[in-house]
Amino acid sequence: NLAEGFADEFRKICEEVILVSGKINVALSGGSTPKILFTVLAVEYKNKINWDKVNFYWVDERCVPPDDDQSNFGMTNGSLLKTITIPEKNIHRIIGENDPGKEAERYSDLLKKNIQVKNNFPEFDLILLGIGEDGHTASIFPDQMQLLHSGKYCAVAIQPKTGQQRITLTGKVINNAERIYFTATGKGKSEVVGKILNKKNNYLEYPASHIQPGRGVLKWFLDKEAGKQVVKS
Ligand code: 6PG
Repeated sequence: NLAEGFADEFRKICEEVILVSGKINVALSGGSTPKILFTVLAVEYKNKINWDKVNFYWVDERCVPPDDDQSNFGMTNGSLLKTITIPEKNIHRIIGENDPGKEAERYSDLLKKNIQVKNNFPEFDLILLGIGEDGHTASIFPDQMQLLHSGKYCAVAIQPKTGQQRITLTGKVINNAERIYFTATGKGKSEVVGKILNKKNNYLEYPASHIQPGRGVLKWFLDKEAGKQVVKS
């Protein structure tokens, strides 16, 4: 199944990258699909991954404290980090309770310091993305397409429906990654996933359509429902 396939791929990539670089830098997303994947990793891969060498960053964060239901860090902590043994220093959360503008700058500086910079942007080994029914990914929403082209590493974004502030990695940082894994589950995602992967209709209006790694690898992890409208070539 999707979660098992993803988890095994994740283990393999961790092994490969750690062998070469001594560590792996991964940026995580929030949302329902990552949560399913984290739960499988926590239970079945607790002792199968060298967590000491895994560094976690976040693709985006809602501007709330870590114990809020909305917190992406909080979700990851509850579903994965609490169960595995991983050093504190490997966990680099976006501080959602800080002033958003200042936090976007602090996080950009942290990335600059910690992650190898290539072509002027930090190069993550792996970025895990979810996708919204409106085609957003990370916290880059269809009405804020400029975040795809920003020269900054991180920016403040607004969830268009709720007005919630968020901090997000920008498109150029995401596209600079070595590997980008999109994940989606459920029939609610089938229309948007179908349009993006079949390159149909107004697909370019979706931020997720613009996620195309410059040199790296792009993979989609879909369950049957989410992949229902994808035409096989
Ligand atoms: C966030 C996420 C976001 C998410 C999608 C899908 O903070 O909201 O990082 O990009 O992955 O919105 O979320 P669902 O799977 O819950 O629809």
